[in-house]
Amino acid sequence: MTFFIKTFGCQMNVNDSEKIRHLLEEKGLAAAGEEQADLIIVNSCAVRAKPQEKVFSYIGRVLARRNAGFPAARKIIVAGCVAQSEKDALFAKKVRVDYVVGTHQFYRIGEIVDELSSGHTGLAAGFNRRWQELVPAARARDSAVTGYVSIMEGCDNFCSYCIVPFTRGREKHRPARAIVAESESLAAQGFREIVLLGQNVNHWRDPGTGASFPQLLRRLARLPVPWIRFITSYPGYHEPQLAEVMAENRNIARHIHFPAQSGSTRILKKMNRAYSRSDYLRIIRAFRSAMPEMKFSSDFIVGFPGESERDFRLTLSLLEQVEYESIFSFIYSPRPNTKAAALDLDVPAQRVKERLYALQELQAAIQLKNNRRLLGMEIDVLVCEKHPKKAGEMIGRSESHRVVNFASRAAVGEFKRVKITGAGPHSLRGEEMPPPGNG
Ligand code: SAH
Ligand code: SF4
Ligand code: F3S
Repeated sequence: MTFFIKTFGCQMNVNDSEKIRHLLEEKGLAAAGEEQADLIIVNSCAVRAKPQEKVFSYIGRVLARRNAGFPAARKIIVAGCVAQSEKDALFAKKVRVDYVVGTHQFYRIGEIVDELSSGHTGLAAGFNRRWQELVPAARARDSAVTGYVSIMEGCDNFCSYCIVPFTRGREKHRPARAIVAESESLAAQGFREIVLLGQNVNHWRDPGTGASFPQLLRRLARLPVPWIRFITSYPGYHEPQLAEVMAENRNIARHIHFPAQSGSTRILKKMNRAYSRSDYLRIIRAFRSAMPEMKFSSDFIVGFPGESERDFRLTLSLLEQVEYESIFSFIYSPRPNTKAAALDLDVPAQRVKERLYALQELQAAIQLKNNRRLLGMEIDVLVCEKHPKKAGEMIGRSESHRVVNFASRAAVGEFKRVKITGAGPHSLRGEEMPPPGNG
């Protein structure tokens, strides 16, 4: 049997798909192209209505291919967050989809494939606090440069808009020894960047010793890996030690994804976020005083129920105050089971769109200003991929994750010193500098 995995959603899903691929390859199955594979696994995202619709329309397309008599796609598994939250609806239609596999059941993928082979269909969607310990660290990796390491999964915050606590369950923290072993193995394989993953990475504690997230980072920073990153940190719990450990270790990237969601304390309360605008700004200042070069990115939701013009202007002014490197911005989307789903959508849809555009326009201007400050400067860039269209061009990333385009013969995974010669709102242009000592 051959398989193809289609991944939607966040980096945690990307990493889960790597684990699924590892387990299936171990079992002797071979990966194949989307149009040829016997088994299609859809690893899904439910965070907003739009991504979920994309998942359903993808499933629809695969089913249509199958119904049209294509030899491939004989079996379809829906896995991940939509499988978890829509399990009953999906299973009720199980004649069409063959198996529904929730977020905590990937470790059973081998048995599930056996069941499929003997003609069974099914649903596996129970929560299992230890599932990550039951899956070996993925040997199959999508990138040879960036390695993901899951350190915790799930969330107990219950932000009033968010479905994740229902799709990923309660917080589960992976033991430090497993995290260190996986990271050591990535370092030994020459990965240039390790990204620690979790819904609230800064809430991680070792289940045995109680060691904190900053302590874990200090341990991992001893590895010969040039950049260590972590996503996502929750602004509601902050330990000053985090900034200290980062400042002490130059291989922890000076960049944090720190989702504010709104600049208005009133809206943050309604969202059940455990911090105010001034708490948030206090943490930003603490990072900057420990590391003046520190950079930030964020997520924002516009059109949350009750968001007034004044609340929205507070979000705009937060953007100006923090000067984020980049942001993701979303229109509020009511999700099943969440508290906010019961609230009236009282901001007119047209107004919400205008707010989204205004937010994105302001952020583009901030990024342009930030990027122009770099003109003429030399920065270190990790070469990530070949430019898909321009021969001889490479695409790299700076420490704060800015896109840098430059002509180079470097291989993917090399670090290059690049002089910035052009700056737009979304990317930089540069010239590769000769290595030191070459004249
Ligand atoms: N654990 C992370 C990210 C969770 S999901 C955190 O707490 O920040 C990623 C982003 O999706 C969120 O930061 C939020 O901006 C957005 N999001 C989540 N639920 C949403 C909803 N119902 N409507 C619109 N955006 C949402
Ligand atoms: Fe969702 Fe809030 Fe948890 Fe993030 S912290 S995953 S937004 S409930
Ligand atoms: Fe989506 Fe689940 Fe990640 S809902 S954002 S795939 S945790």
